[in-house]
Amino acid sequence: MNNIKFENNRLFILDQTKLPNQEIYLEMKSLEDCYNAIELLQVRGAPAIGIFAAYSLALFHENNIEKSKEYLDSARPTAVNLSWATQRILNAFRNGKNLIKEATAIQNEDIDMCRKISEYGLSLLKDNYGILTHCNAGELATSKYGTGLGPIILGNEKGYKFHVYSDETRPLLQGARLTSYELEKHGIDVTLICDSAASTVMKKGLIDAVLVGCDRVAANGDTANKIGTNTVAVLSKYYGIPFYVLGPYSTIDFSSPSGENIVIEERGANEIKSMYFENPTALSETKCYNPAFDITDNSLITAIITDKGIAYPPFEKSLKELYND
Ligand code: MRU
Repeated sequence: MNNIKFENNRLFILDQTKLPNQEIYLEMKSLEDCYNAIELLQVRGAPAIGIFAAYSLALFHENNIEKSKEYLDSARPTAVNLSWATQRILNAFRNGKNLIKEATAIQNEDIDMCRKISEYGLSLLKDNYGILTHCNAGELATSKYGTGLGPIILGNEKGYKFHVYSDETRPLLQGARLTSYELEKHGIDVTLICDSAASTVMKKGLIDAVLVGCDRVAANGDTANKIGTNTVAVLSKYYGIPFYVLGPYSTIDFSSPSGENIVIEERGANEIKSMYFENPTALSETKCYNPAFDITDNSLITAIITDKGIAYPPFEKSLKELYND
């Protein structure tokens, strides 16, 4: 799935806001186009935002590259991959390196990391497993395979049959619009459920494991995930179902000691009340609170699956061990 294309020095993205009904590519012509594409979620998913931001800064940085970086970073604050990738471009600039080559390296490294994450994740799954996922952490959100969906897509290639339950993921419906689209394209069995049906499928014994991507992992293993993920984690603990968080090393932020240090992006009321409805679902004066992410407490997480291996609790120690060797 080609979500970010760099061809003949031109940058294109598959507009994810139009999926699954239309597959439209948009060409980026300025830094402002790139900022808007990230802010409007035309390109989304933590690793994909990082890859895209790297190309954006490499191509369109203005006289003051530090300012251009800050501007792009401010488009979405929670996913650490964004500022991590733009920092790499800034470092390359300071060292007189070719910036496009650096952006391409970030993209290629992500393919490699996603493959490794997928292999580690698959080692924990069995044929015929029922798997619940939330939001979209597949190829649209990364480069290839994905993180949360990676083991499923890789397993499918190897002949595993999984039964995936995809939370629709209110309010922006990434599970409905993107995950079910992506899995259908791969020919993987997927059933779309309302977020509120997660406990029912768990209680019925249909779920053997939960797999989700993440936007930032704090040093103690608290993770920032798409809003609603913490609810799924609480339910998993109650029903005794393994809850796995998957992400590349660029998602781990050792400078955030715990989830309390992570800035959570808040988005507009229109996303709750009107964006995906023919008519508004509430009065215009009704207040809304729309945090885009929540923090999953480390005590609810069975394992964090990274490109370097699988970290188990206590995460403070196991994450450091994975990344400091
Ligand atoms: O707001 P989004 O759609 O960018 O949120 C995406 C997610 O929450 C993903 O699960 C996360 O970025 C991990 S992507 C591999």
